[in-house]
Amino acid sequence: MSALTQINPLAVITSSSVVSTVILTGFVLALPFLYLANFYFRYKRHQAATPWPVNGKVVVITGASSGIGEELAYEFARQGAKLILCARRVDKLSNVAQVCKDKYGAVDVTISKADVTRESDVVRLIETISATHDKIDCLVLNAGVSMGEALEKISDFSVIKDIMDVNYFGSTMFTYHALPLLKNAEKSRIVIVSSLSAIIPGVPYRSGYNASKYALKGFFESLQAELINDNIFITIAYPGVVKTEINQSRLGKNPISLDFSNAMSAEECSKIIVDGTIKGHKEIILTNMGRLGRIMEGIFPDLLFHLSYSRSKNYFSEEKEKVKDQ
Ligand SMILES: NC(=O)c1ccc[n+]([C@@H]2O[C@H](COP(=O)([O-])OP(=O)(O)OC[C@H]3O[C@@H](n4cnc5c(N)ncnc54)[C@H](OP(=O)(O)O)[C@@H]3O)[C@@H](O)[C@H]2O)c1
Ligand SMILES: *[C@@H]1O[C@H](CO)[C@@H](O)[C@H](O)[C@H]1NC(C)=O
Ligand SMILES: *[C@@H]1O[C@H](CO)[C@@H](O)[C@H](O)[C@H]1NC(C)=O
Repeated sequence: MSALTQINPLAVITSSSVVSTVILTGFVLALPFLYLANFYFRYKRHQAATPWPVNGKVVVITGASSGIGEELAYEFARQGAKLILCARRVDKLSNVAQVCKDKYGAVDVTISKADVTRESDVVRLIETISATHDKIDCLVLNAGVSMGEALEKISDFSVIKDIMDVNYFGSTMFTYHALPLLKNAEKSRIVIVSSLSAIIPGVPYRSGYNASKYALKGFFESLQAELINDNIFITIAYPGVVKTEINQSRLGKNPISLDFSNAMSAEECSKIIVDGTIKGHKEIILTNMGRLGRIMEGIFPDLLFHLSYSRSKNYFSEEKEKVKDQ
């Protein structure tokens, strides 16, 4: 009789649960060391990415005509950057450029009417930059649109495609064309303005938006591995709810009204993003609840969904179910 047939099934179960208990206990005991190891690699990245004084840096910001992009322009201007600002509403852009100069002392501000979904616009903009600056130190991919409807209420599926076009293809295509200039800088940055909804579950009416932001995470985390030896540091920022024009610019016919009473200001959000960019962080999570959620996601997914879903209701006004008149 072979040894195999003599194995007592109960003993197998017991020994495998002993093994998994030992592994689990070992993991829990190792947590402080893993935390230190993570801290060490974060420090190493910081050492490689810095110093990075903003003064004199060439910074390109997409979607700088309002909201977070506008405030990012002011913060970079205040710290002495040379700015290239793009968006579709050129009148708003020129106001932003004027404030950068008059209020924040910027000396070199270029504005460009560019739609990030149009490759010809992006190529033309990159050509303009290479003619005047020969490098990009920091590319901030902020242009974006959102949505605010249940999938079944969307009158036209193009909403989902259009969000992908601006948020995902706009950012990745811009990066593709900007790479040669990013490589010309000694230590450069690509900053992606994503959203907490891309990493935290339980926020309704954002299906297509979430997908676009999550796709960006996939693209840029992989790209980081290609570019780390070129000293190009990619930072993904995950803001929570921020008071901007995104409320009005959301695609779709009847976006559900947002309640901004608990929202962060675009100014505060932008200052935190610029600070994390200077430090070369891999990611910036803008709220404490977001940071907590990030940790819980891997361990307590169902509990997190419940908590986050209950909380997300705060951001839709009383007339949550009542949709806005056309
Ligand atoms: N507000 C929030 O609660 C929140 C939370 C998380 C993440 N975010 C993200 O933050 C980013 C900025 O949004 P925001 O809140 O500041 O909203 P916003 O005030 O509506 O700003 C959006 C900006 O994107 C530009 N844009 C839109 N489509 C574009 C296109 N096709 N080509 C070029 N530029 C385009 C807009 O400029 P033009 O219309 O002039 O082109 C505008 O400057 C977005 O990526 C958004 O997803 C916002
Ligand atoms: C968005 O998608 C990602 C990836 O699947 C997921 O982790 C996250 O929870 C989703 N966010 C929402 C609000 O459902
Ligand atoms: C958000 O936008 C909707 C639709 O445009 C509008 O009804 C609502 O008053 C806006 N809310 C805020 C806080 O701006």
